[in-house]
Amino acid sequence: MPDTLTIIDNRTGKQYELPIGYGVYPEYGSFIRGADLRQIKAGPDDFGLLSYDPAYMNTASCKSSITFIDGDRGILRYRGYPIEELAERSNFLEVAYLLLRGELPTAQQLERWTWEVTHHTFVHESIKKFMDGFHYDAHPMGALVGTVAALSTFYPEARNISDPEIRARQIVRLVAKMPTIAAFAYRHRVGMPYAYPDNDLSFAGNFLNMMFKTTELKYQPNPVLERVLNVLFILHADHEQNCSTSAMRNVGSSHADPYVCVAAAAAALYGPLHGGANEQVLRMLQEIGSVDRIPEYVRRVKAGEFRLMGFGHRVYKNYDPRARILRELAPQVFEVTGRNPLLDIAVELERIALEDDYFISRKLYPNVDFYSGIIYQAMGFPVDMFPVLFAIPRVAGWLAQWEEMLEDSEQRIARPRQVYTGADERHYVPLEERGA
Ligand code: CMC
Repeated sequence: MPDTLTIIDNRTGKQYELPIGYGVYPEYGSFIRGADLRQIKAGPDDFGLLSYDPAYMNTASCKSSITFIDGDRGILRYRGYPIEELAERSNFLEVAYLLLRGELPTAQQLERWTWEVTHHTFVHESIKKFMDGFHYDAHPMGALVGTVAALSTFYPEARNISDPEIRARQIVRLVAKMPTIAAFAYRHRVGMPYAYPDNDLSFAGNFLNMMFKTTELKYQPNPVLERVLNVLFILHADHEQNCSTSAMRNVGSSHADPYVCVAAAAAALYGPLHGGANEQVLRMLQEIGSVDRIPEYVRRVKAGEFRLMGFGHRVYKNYDPRARILRELAPQVFEVTGRNPLLDIAVELERIALEDDYFISRKLYPNVDFYSGIIYQAMGFPVDMFPVLFAIPRVAGWLAQWEEMLEDSEQRIARPRQVYTGADERHYVPLEERGA
């Protein structure tokens, strides 16, 4: 059986044979090259056939060896390792290393990597002053996007994106400084003095320190919450070619420096259909308010008034494996923090939705955002920090994808085609001749 696709153009009667390519799994990710369609022309002046695919519903924009998702079977793996194993046995910095370098580190490599990230957590004092300029109630995600972009002006060497050593330096800086900027954005919003990084603490523990330290001389993170935050960071570290990662690759394809690329990716993440969804889930659960009001809310969702936030996914047509891990993790958090009453509403909402034909027929299951918000809230994070908490670990995935894109000889500046639907050529009419 030849690995080709035969196409007959009924306009001309011509037949074309296009090669079929494969990823590692023959049954998952077979493709034809979009550019091969260009030879299909109705006449000599024809530009050639385009594939029209708004929102990239069925377009592979790259080959990638970082993350594998099988949305129908609810599978997520980083560099081949199942997300469940990483969540249970690894920590965020080890997973970040895995995503960025392709292999789990040796003990020595992990020690070096952890030391490097830990010793780049401080930001320039002028960054602190820059952040002081934000309005007192600035949304921390807006502050994060703006401040990460501003880092570009502090590290002009970052523009040299073709030097792997310079790239590696910026990667360490970005992974290390994201939590600091995120925590500073929060402290500015609540009018608290900034808490500086504590190099004795773990990546997650230090973030809790920068968020919540008050008058104590040394902040001691709760070990359960530190571990849960690690798991949350692992679950959010990468998710192949989603909206923000595509933004990272798109902006990076113009050879912009990694700081402005990460700012663009974080801006994409901010939207309520992407990383902003966990914030919306919390607001939705608060609006529902009590279990007895769920049926009426679901009725309005089905009537098309609004969407059930934290449900549905472009890729997962099954339970999101990250949501499953978080659902099991939630009770551990509540043992420390006390039960979040919104959990009862969430569990009942999930039960009702999963029995309803509207959701079953559309394969709408809880996604990662459905439970993450309830956990974050119980841990003391304000709702508008939720997308920021998503961005902190995702920077590892964005940067891994950015590096892969830069080293891929097939990648060039991202530049989609369009199907023009506007006016044919017409001529300028002077203002006084245009009528009323
Ligand atoms: N509630 C109610 N109906 C929904 C929902 C929802 N959350 N999601 C999709 N649908 C319906 C939609 O109305 C459509 O129905 P119909 O065929 O009758 O018109 C059908 O399901 C297919 O929806 P779609 O908009 O074509 O699906 P999509 O792949 O373009 O959208 C999505 C994916 C995640 C944007 C969408 O499911 C959604 O808006 N969910 C709520 C927001 C959310 O939770 N986002 C977080 C995603 S996970 C975190 C991340 O990776 O960013």
